[in-house]
Amino acid sequence: MKLMEELAPKGLQGVYVDKTEIATTDSTGNLVYRGYRVVEIADRLSFEEIAYLLVYSRLPNREETDEFRKFLIENSKLPGYVVKIISAMKGMNIMDILRTSVSALTVSGRDEKSLLSLAAKFPAIVNLAGDGPDPDKAPTGSFSERFYYFMTGRDDQKNAGLLEKILIMYMEHEFNASTFALRVTASTLADPACAFTSALATLKGPLHGGANSEVLKFLLGLKSQDEVRRYVDDTLAKKEKLMGFGHRVYKDRDPRAQYIKGLLLRYFSDREVVRNAVFMEEYVWEKKNLAANVDFYGALYMYLLGIDEKYYLPVFACSRVFGWVAHYIEQQSNNKLIRPLALYTGKKDQKI
Ligand code: SDX
Repeated sequence: MKLMEELAPKGLQGVYVDKTEIATTDSTGNLVYRGYRVVEIADRLSFEEIAYLLVYSRLPNREETDEFRKFLIENSKLPGYVVKIISAMKGMNIMDILRTSVSALTVSGRDEKSLLSLAAKFPAIVNLAGDGPDPDKAPTGSFSERFYYFMTGRDDQKNAGLLEKILIMYMEHEFNASTFALRVTASTLADPACAFTSALATLKGPLHGGANSEVLKFLLGLKSQDEVRRYVDDTLAKKEKLMGFGHRVYKDRDPRAQYIKGLLLRYFSDREVVRNAVFMEEYVWEKKNLAANVDFYGALYMYLLGIDEKYYLPVFACSRVFGWVAHYIEQQSNNKLIRPLALYTGKKDQKI
């Protein structure tokens, strides 16, 4: 086979490296899970129904949904040795504890149920790592009601319902960096815990999932439109990145960001910080043609839901793991070891 003479673009920008049936961005710029437009099903389906859709590539009936919800609760129990690891790391960054704990989990199977039994443990690890309330006192309702309680200690159906929307937005996004890292690991036939650990380690980077925590650091401190302008101008002048802006795929609008923005304007339009965020989105677009991504409005949204900033990236991970389950299965269903070439440009003919 003729070797590729020209080098793929840096960061594999714009390169199709494999096929997938899980998600895509369609011609209207909308994110699609298994053929369903996400912003449409997010208004009508539960987190569990959409997670089931991603993993089993069809929507569940009511009985299957109830069974799936029960399965996630029953499999959220942590083994004693993992509880010990988490206790030993108490007070450290929750993503570091999540990554370390998941790397210690073992599961023999490679089927959906085995992978889901690991995914089900993510919120429980986050709860314990964040010194959250007693999980046994959590409501036995939906995934988002339990998760909201795990992070806030509040049994609040309205806010849990709003949390569910961002969980759906975060759930899957084709070959983003952490999912691609998972696929490379899965292509070696490594077990699911290894693959999830690769993905968690990759997600933490501020150019990827880690942006949502960074957004709040500046957004809450900007009290007027002038301060927003000054912050944006200074950041760009220093050639630094504006966290929460720009995207490899969405060059003019991130449909997830717009969906969350719609909820912010519906439920929190009276807040100064929301108005400043909308102004910032418009100003950055005007100055640099960069669109706000899911992390920009997502961070503010979680803040206004009363969720502590230490949980923002873990929220992203506890949702995205269902996309990772689907990608692990898809990779292994038609596997070929992922091993590209590097064009050597180093020294030659060296002699000692
Ligand atoms: C997520 O891929 C996914 O699907 C990810 C994600 C998912 O669901 O998994 O959607 C989740 O990760 C969202 C992105 C969160 N990250 C951030 O918000 C961090 C800030 N954003 C950037 O670092 C950047 O926009 C990336 C990394 C997200 C995308 O960058 P690209 O596609 O590699 O583009 P680039 O870095 O080559 O930028 C092109 C130009 C450059 O200018 P020039 O050097 O050509 O003059 O745009 C500029 C960049 O400097 N630019 C920015 C910028 N993003 C791009 N300038 C300032 N601030 C930014 N945020």
